[in-house]
Amino acid sequence: MLVSAKEMLKKAVEGQYAVGQFNINNLEWTKAILLTAQENNSPVILGVSEGAGKYMGGYKTIVGMVNGMIEELNITVPVALHLDHGSYDGALKVIEAGFSSVMFDGSHYSIEENISKTKEIIEIANAKGISVEAEVGSIGGEEDGVVGSGEIADPAECKSIADLGIDMLAAGIGNIHGKYPENWAGLNFDALAAIKDATKDMPLVLHGGTGIPEDMIKKAISLGVAKINVNTECQLAFAKATREYIEAGKDLEGKGFDPRKILAPGFEAIKATVKEKMELFGSVNKA
Ligand code: 13P
Repeated sequence: MLVSAKEMLKKAVEGQYAVGQFNINNLEWTKAILLTAQENNSPVILGVSEGAGKYMGGYKTIVGMVNGMIEELNITVPVALHLDHGSYDGALKVIEAGFSSVMFDGSHYSIEENISKTKEIIEIANAKGISVEAEVGSIGGEEDGVVGSGEIADPAECKSIADLGIDMLAAGIGNIHGKYPENWAGLNFDALAAIKDATKDMPLVLHGGTGIPEDMIKKAISLGVAKINVNTECQLAFAKATREYIEAGKDLEGKGFDPRKILAPGFEAIKATVKEKMELFGSVNKA
């Protein structure tokens, strides 16, 4: 059964580890992440962007697939199905479709509008036991064709949003989606410490988990980050494994044209990436 992310993140803050949010794009991705979570006895959050939602045939399709897998693959670790960077309308749609968690990203609105829209989403989501993530200070890089330059969140604005009753807060601290440029200045730990100080026990979310050095990840967790989002790294691992398989010509030989065989190396590559992250984030055996 899907659960809200509230409890698993509260436990992560208390235990000083982070739960991974791994974005899904198809059935193989979903199955690889769920099986890895179960094998490592780790809680997990499946992230779905609005673009991935459309690609997979709509939110109800995804809810059906994930619930089916949880039951038939005997997944007993806590799993949250979460909308990633949702618009106001997108958030309403996933709540209707049966997601257990939602991010409303109002970071591109004025802080006043971000607050009023976040408040409305909290009310609707909480009535159904669905957890809510809000964002302050946009996260840079490209996601679903939308490019943001990234900014450092203001601690006072973070507190205003945190006090509304959200369950997790994404605050920009110099993190960006996708690959980090050569001249990246790194995470701003002074900003993170100030945000933590202002928001107390609020689980903080680190977006753009791909390519952040391990020591920075560990330091971010020690400063209150309880959820880390990873997307690009699984995509790169999947693409590399699939390309190697096809370039080796294996897909043309024997039964190699079987799509299940073609996608198998990519599936294993996602499993290995997710396991590595769960170990780094400290969520193994925390289910
Ligand atoms: P990456 O693609 O950089 O791993 O970021 C994922 C993310 O933050 C999704 O919201």
